[in-house]
Amino acid sequence: MSKLLEQSTNFQVVAKFLGVILKDGYRVKYLRVAIAAQEYWIKLPKELSHKFDRNLSVGSWLEIYGTQTLERKKGILKMEASSFMTVNEPNDLLKPMVNEQKAIAKPKNQTACILICQKSDCWQRGGKEVYQRLEEQLSDRGLSDLVQIQKTGCQKQCKQAPNLVVMPNKARHSNVRPSQVDGLLNRYFGNTIV
Ligand code: FES
Repeated sequence: MSKLLEQSTNFQVVAKFLGVILKDGYRVKYLRVAIAAQEYWIKLPKELSHKFDRNLSVGSWLEIYGTQTLERKKGILKMEASSFMTVNEPNDLLKPMVNEQKAIAKPKNQTACILICQKSDCWQRGGKEVYQRLEEQLSDRGLSDLVQIQKTGCQKQCKQAPNLVVMPNKARHSNVRPSQVDGLLNRYFGNTIV
């Protein structure tokens, strides 16, 4: 990717530990952390993954150093840790201790995507209109480049058609009506900085 479309900087952050995302069922691939009430996924390279203490309690505080890359075209912020350590809970004056790059971060869009079932039960029972409404609303809000809409195969919830899933939260919504699209977008992407 062209460097013009990417911007990498170092970051240092104090964040609350929320859990991990595993790869292949065992390797810790991402740390899930909260920074100022937003959830971020920070990638762990293999060497750090091996050292990760699996007894770390949810709610612990971590000081994390690493590199963040903003893919401007997709509006995706990728964060990778180079080191981290547990720290005491910061006082209110210090949290969140995030460098200035955070000002342009779009954490909710790290992998922002709406997966909408396009199989017949969903599509014919209103999924198509929901899809169209999503497209219109994302466009109106200037979010088309940041939130992808992806059509999927059957999501195995045909009786509750139409169905969609909002990523990265993996939040499933069934019996979705076009009139609910605005509320859905407000709920998941309402604070997005464009
Ligand atoms: S057709 Fe959409 S969930 Fe099965």
